[in-house]
Amino acid sequence: MIVEQLPEAVRSHVREAKRQGRIVGCVPTMGALHDGHCSLIEQARRDCDFVVGTIFVNPTQFGPGEDFSRYPRTLEADLDRCRAAGADLVFTPAASVMYQDDADTVVVPGQLATVLEGAIRPGHFSGVTTVVTKLFGITEPDVAFFGQKDFQQQLIIRRMVRDLNLAVRIVTCPIIRESDGLAMSSRNRYLTETERAVAGDIHQALREAIRLADCGECSAAEVALQMRRRLERSGQLQVQYAVVANPETLEEYQTEERGIEAVALIAVQLGSTRLIDNALLRFG
Ligand code: PAF
Repeated sequence: MIVEQLPEAVRSHVREAKRQGRIVGCVPTMGALHDGHCSLIEQARRDCDFVVGTIFVNPTQFGPGEDFSRYPRTLEADLDRCRAAGADLVFTPAASVMYQDDADTVVVPGQLATVLEGAIRPGHFSGVTTVVTKLFGITEPDVAFFGQKDFQQQLIIRRMVRDLNLAVRIVTCPIIRESDGLAMSSRNRYLTETERAVAGDIHQALREAIRLADCGECSAAEVALQMRRRLERSGQLQVQYAVVANPETLEEYQTEERGIEAVALIAVQLGSTRLIDNALLRFG
């Protein structure tokens, strides 16, 4: 596995792979890799001929007071995981390589970035779309892989790719969960033992939403209310949102809905850790 720090070096490997007719896949990450990330690399390995992982803790997507400085940095272990999962090349740039001091251009997503995570973390998605555009510019992938865990992120990236005519296909991969259902996340390692014991309630709330929709409940508001009640039961999870929304527009469904697809989305604060999760539903 090749490891490169500079965009020009990455580009020359990728161009050589393309010259040989190989399909290039890219898996952008911020490191602190877990099985969820590895599943993205493994999917890229199955779908593509040349797999590029990127590891970069992107400062521009963290707001003031967020966890940029404490975000786990575990490069050596991450490279081992990339190798085991089948990456051909890993790009590990320094911040000074990604952002020149006089950088003057950003990518600003629109409406989709104003709700949910975007409302709570102003500027976050502009940081994401800017760095993802730069990573696409450097790795020139045919296909890029993102997790469903960051549902709003993958939706915004899909819309950006469509709106800016970027020549990359986006693949969204399923959420990988711990045995109690907690969605894998680099931030799970912040949880204390007591917090970890109740974190599985987030998945229980999503399962309750799925169960209600499957059993014929067609009030999206009722499903959202039952999710919130389940989350609040332990008294430890501070609910930021628990909503049932249109999976394309993220508009909250308010009324009785039948025969439609939906996404249930949750964000909670648990001690000093913010956790998000989601599940797709169908109102029968
Ligand atoms: O999902 C992430 O880890 C990050 O938001 C991404 C897409 C790598 C951009 O920094």
